[in-house]
Amino acid sequence: MKLDGKVAIITGAASGIGATIAKHYVEAGAHVVIADLKREAAEAKASELSAIGPGKAIGVEMDVTNEDAVNAGVAKTVETFGRVDILVSNAGIQIVHRIEDFPFADWKKMLAIHLDGAFLTTKACVPHMKAQGGGAVIYMGSVHSHEASPLKSAYVTAKHGLLGLARVLAKEGGEHGIRANVICPGFVRTPLVDKQIPEQAATLGISEEEVVKKVMLGETVDGEFTTVEDVAEVALFLAGFETNALTGQSFTVSHGWHMG
Ligand SMILES: NC(=O)c1ccc[n+]([C@@H]2O[C@H](COP(=O)([O-])OP(=O)(O)OC[C@H]3O[C@@H](n4cnc5c(N)ncnc54)[C@H](O)[C@@H]3O)[C@@H](O)[C@H]2O)c1
Repeated sequence: MKLDGKVAIITGAASGIGATIAKHYVEAGAHVVIADLKREAAEAKASELSAIGPGKAIGVEMDVTNEDAVNAGVAKTVETFGRVDILVSNAGIQIVHRIEDFPFADWKKMLAIHLDGAFLTTKACVPHMKAQGGGAVIYMGSVHSHEASPLKSAYVTAKHGLLGLARVLAKEGGEHGIRANVICPGFVRTPLVDKQIPEQAATLGISEEEVVKKVMLGETVDGEFTTVEDVAEVALFLAGFETNALTGQSFTVSHGWHMG
């Protein structure tokens, strides 16, 4: 199997995109740590996936903005499965406001989850990957790593920032066999997106249907949402691609919304 014996930590994997990546990895033979703010949901997802197998999964409570919690989660991974081969830094939230209305506390919360979370999990995993002679780090970017949309200053800033972190890790990690790449999905129907539809409709003064058709899918080639499976397939490919030929890259999965 493609990821036989590999060990992966996936943050924010109790729900949405992360949960589907976890399923694909377990089915490919990897052991997976579901690291999420929501302990019960993480443990429930881990039990569900362990029952599917062949890989095993455990749930770990982790707030990715808390250095001690991140370090404890990575230590628990190594204690349980003996190594860390793959990090998928995926935990994320969305908060939308116009810049002039954006509460500073919300701006800092967004940057903390998306950027501090990516940095802290990377920092904790890299020493293990170096000691093992390699690893794959995958950051969950977004089309908003390349494009901007109104109301999303914090999200767009953070998602652009992940490209920089990935490129630096690609350079620092190259001689150690550590690859770093970014997946950039278009809109995917998860709780994160469902929450935004009524919020954007209210802020922009348009109907929810218009938010979906025009704001979310208007620039795609076919008016279709990207699916959690689409993103998980790319995450599986990147985790299993074992040379530095693919590092420091971003992979956009968006029905043609962003091309480049
Ligand atoms: N859904 C989309 O359209 C879309 C598009 C592009 C990128 N993304 C990115 O994909 C990632 C996953 O999003 P999703 O749509 O699956 O959302 P989701 O809401 O379904 O899942 C996010 C998970 O992250 C967890 N989480 C939130 N804050 C956390 C924290 N501080 N520490 C640990 N876990 C935390 C939540 O508990 C939840 O389980 C995010 O980084 C998001 O920005 C999503």
